[in-house]
Amino acid sequence: MEDFKFEHVSVLLDEVCDFLDPKETDIIVDGTLGLGGHTKELLKRTDGKARAYTFDLDSRNLKIARDTLQRFEGRVSYINDSFSTFDHYYKVMKMDGVDKVVLDLGLSSPHLDIAEHGFSFKRRGPLDMRYSRKQKITAATLLNKLPADQLTMILKSFGELSNAKLIARKIVEERAVAPFKYTDEFASRIEICFHPKDRIKGLTCIFQAIRIAVNDELRTLSKGLESLYNHLSSNGRIAVISYHSLEDRIVKNFFRKLEKPLETDPEKSLRSIYADPLVEMITKKPVKPGEKEVEVNPRSRSAKLRVIRKI
Ligand SMILES: C[S@@+](CC[C@H](N)C(=O)[O-])C[C@H]1O[C@@H](n2cnc3c(N)ncnc32)[C@H](O)[C@@H]1O
Repeated sequence: MEDFKFEHVSVLLDEVCDFLDPKETDIIVDGTLGLGGHTKELLKRTDGKARAYTFDLDSRNLKIARDTLQRFEGRVSYINDSFSTFDHYYKVMKMDGVDKVVLDLGLSSPHLDIAEHGFSFKRRGPLDMRYSRKQKITAATLLNKLPADQLTMILKSFGELSNAKLIARKIVEERAVAPFKYTDEFASRIEICFHPKDRIKGLTCIFQAIRIAVNDELRTLSKGLESLYNHLSSNGRIAVISYHSLEDRIVKNFFRKLEKPLETDPEKSLRSIYADPLVEMITKKPVKPGEKEVEVNPRSRSAKLRVIRKI
């Protein structure tokens, strides 16, 4: 591993903590612990008295966060698994309701900055892109093995690329010459699919698409939201930070369906198609980082925060 000093800034930190407004008796779930920034601030605001259950697929991040959160030892549980498996841990760890949830989706700064994770085409690294080392499928597996139509589907659905078919064809053609091994090498062999002025954007979309597919990110998000909401106590709150439109759409639609659930009672449905709201939308519109935050932390520029309160 490269010797790397982490410069860590949690995105929308004050906003998340203000909206979640943690109390001393709270059970907090951080589904994407990362380097622990959000959990640290949430616990600090309760004088370290709340209890936190934290998840991360990446065992390295979990370890770094554990050091950061050392002073809260005994009040934090660290789970090296996906937040989509929350149901299982809820039972096993005998939790009794959840008061506050934070999900800060996607990858952390070390994922991008350490070439060995293979998330960036700007640094030479193996085509990996897994959050969890326990998983077998890597980006190289998908790029070197998937049939063209499946690659097209991934590039179109997860990268929103209009020339997905052409890129998939180029991938298949190139890998027949030699399999792809490295991030920068893959990028240089397929960048021809874009006009020079669109290359950075195009490659960014391809890398996003492959990353989403490798980690099955969208299905994980839907499943996790469902499970976390089901265990949320009345008055409990969920805050989600997403970084691209596909994630944000899932969060927005999930929250909307709870705010305006369809009426299932046939008699009542004659008067209104909607039943009483199950949640209050705390953020009427998604909250975005201000200019100052984006200047300090450019990676926050695409962040969108949505928060609900269970009624
Ligand atoms: C944006 S970072 C979180 C940063 C964190 N909020 C902080 O302040 O340090 C996202 C983290 O979520 C993890 N992750 C991504 N998908 C996950 C999932 N389905 N379950 C658990 N962790 C996940 C990644 O490994 C990464 O460490």
